[in-house]
Amino acid sequence: MAKRVPPAGAAAALLSVAWAAAAMLPAVSRAGTPGQAPAAGPATQTGSPAAAPPVTPDPYADGSAQAGATKAAVCFSCHGPDGNSQSPTFPRLAGQNAVYLAEQLHLFRDGIRQNPVMQPMTAGLSDQDIDNLAVFFAAQTPSGLEADPSYWKAGQALYLHGDAARGVPGCVACHGPTGRGNPAAGYPALEAQQSVYVVSQLQQYANGSRYSGSNAPNATPNSIIMFDIAKQLTPEEMRDVASYVQGLR
Ligand code: HEC
Ligand code: HEC
Repeated sequence: MAKRVPPAGAAAALLSVAWAAAAMLPAVSRAGTPGQAPAAGPATQTGSPAAAPPVTPDPYADGSAQAGATKAAVCFSCHGPDGNSQSPTFPRLAGQNAVYLAEQLHLFRDGIRQNPVMQPMTAGLSDQDIDNLAVFFAAQTPSGLEADPSYWKAGQALYLHGDAARGVPGCVACHGPTGRGNPAAGYPALEAQQSVYVVSQLQQYANGSRYSGSNAPNATPNSIIMFDIAKQLTPEEMRDVASYVQGLR
């Protein structure tokens, strides 16, 4: 018996803002995003900075959801009708923010995020196709599975509060009280995401395999954040928090 989980309250959002400010988190916006000055990079960043991020500045400005719809039909076989995946290993794309989607499609196409399925799927896409697909999927309404009742409460605690003793921040700070992410900064939405997929990505960040290349942890302007956080999570915490976000709407 699955259960939809209550969203984090306004108090948690406030708390997370305070936390983010205190930790001087990298609320880095993409160049050209109006209203937000680019901030300094994460304090944890090491080594040389990543090469210019493989993103077009603003898929919301460049993309056409209508043009994306015609290209998206081929994606539905795995990612589900309108991007609501029916299979636990295929991520939900519906409602994901377009900046993040475009970035990930570039990373697959460039072979930095290596996946035997997605690399051929993106090989023939132009930059314009990527922007069109990104805004198409961003405009769809996420539906999805519910949270597993055995795990979501522990997952909720971690999502909202993290674990200060180990320096693990609450996920809410960046992924938001209802899991919508942060579109301006390109932080992905986690709401309604398939829990099996979420666990697999947390494992990939933790073991360093999400991106390839000598500068893998800095493959995107903010990816180092997740490499650092996921390393600290136990397998049980990954399972619990994945269950919680699957039920978030
Ligand atoms: C044959 C199955 C299949 C098809 C068809 C497919 N995908 Fe995927 N897609 C996957 C799998 C599997 C993953 C997860 C890869 C991983 O685990 O890293 C994925 C991941 C993604 C991601 C990353 C999502 C995230 O949250 O990071 C995006 C974006 C994406 N696909 C977009 C597309 C688009 C756009 C199309 C159509 C042009 C498409 N996919 C077609 C199987 C497929
Ligand atoms: C300081 C901001 C921040 C915090 C806190 C944070 N994340 Fe993230 N998260 C990000 C960013 C940025 C990305 C995209 C990274 C990239 O480019 O690969 C991301 C990506 C992810 C992804 C991959 C999504 C996908 O579709 O593939 C998962 C899963 C995730 N985070 C889970 C978590 C969980 C669980 C927590 C709490 C334990 C958490 N995050 C805390 C910023 C954050």
